[in-house]
Amino acid sequence: MNVLLLAGGLGTRLRPLTEDLPKPMALVANRPWLEHLILHLKAQGVQNFVIALKHYPEKIRSYFGNGKRWGVSIQYAEEESLLGTAGAIKNAEPYLDERFIVVNADIVHTINLLPLLDFHVGHGGGVTIGLTEVDDPTHYGVVVQDSEGRILRFVEKPRIEEAPSNRVNAGIYVMEKSMLRYIPKDREVSIERETFPLLIEKQAGVFGKIVSGYWMDMGTKERYRKIHWDLLNRVFQLPIQQQESENGIWIGNQCEIGTGVLFVPPVLIGDGVKIGDRSVIGPNVVIGNHCEIRHHVRCSDTIMWERCKVNEGTHLKNCIFGNELELGSKHILYEAVMNRVGVMQA
Ligand code: GTP
Repeated sequence: MNVLLLAGGLGTRLRPLTEDLPKPMALVANRPWLEHLILHLKAQGVQNFVIALKHYPEKIRSYFGNGKRWGVSIQYAEEESLLGTAGAIKNAEPYLDERFIVVNADIVHTINLLPLLDFHVGHGGGVTIGLTEVDDPTHYGVVVQDSEGRILRFVEKPRIEEAPSNRVNAGIYVMEKSMLRYIPKDREVSIERETFPLLIEKQAGVFGKIVSGYWMDMGTKERYRKIHWDLLNRVFQLPIQQQESENGIWIGNQCEIGTGVLFVPPVLIGDGVKIGDRSVIGPNVVIGNHCEIRHHVRCSDTIMWERCKVNEGTHLKNCIFGNELELGSKHILYEAVMNRVGVMQA
């Protein structure tokens, strides 16, 4: 049984960071999320991956290659045009096993797939949708189930008082390959809006099961930030490559930290980072590998990817910066989301 990772979407809500990058390659704790995801699934015994690509496919192919460096096998199914979440599965059909798992590659999670798989084998239906419970279901499609877990229908974006449940599609499915005959070829098809409702209508056996563990879709900049604060504040765990030198302060190798620098935890500093004298870093800051922060910089609630440069006296709060961004001196930036391609003020 192999795993199909859906990684081809445009990631429009996370622009400009995704202007020239597939969203699952966005860094989480100084490493592409997709890399964390592959390692997390490998730790559960998954050996064979297929990645469905469309937006900047080369950025994923060139990073992972055949997967050997990670001790797994990776194949790629690339789309000529955007096919949507079900169209991408149909396009990957030649690579898929008789039973396979689909995972939206933009969801940060620590979910164990085994209970989902056991449940799927037990009910013998065509699809099992991993479900997660959310506090506010009004932005999602919520499910209505019978006592055996069979999904009877979806209610899209219900008003809070009308929501039949708070269980929503977690973007993780176990599927039988026979279900692919219900997905039309070579056109955009949404799994949530088109395929699942059709499979329910055809009585193909669509079941749902709550999956436990951390779950957060990184699709918006607010949630992308929250994932980091949750990680640094130990709401969930991921392997962080840098060492924790004091409680809540992780510092990478070969960093040069100036005199009088104050770290306010939690703070994660990548490898080869330089920080100038009397800068104040934190709380809630992630600085990517090989960034240079000059003196008297103040930085809080901010994520910066690799090789950025922040000149002296600049103040940053609630910002997200892509790779290789250079900021001038004595700037004050609040809630800026920027990369070299585009600038967006929130
Ligand atoms: P937005 O444009 O911000 O909505 O993001 P998105 O379309 O990239 O993500 P969305 O949450 O809608 O999709 C869920 C997952 O499916 C993400 O991991 C996407 O990369 C992936 N995905 C969405 N559409 C496609 C597609 O047409 N092809 C492929 N291969 N993957 C897709």
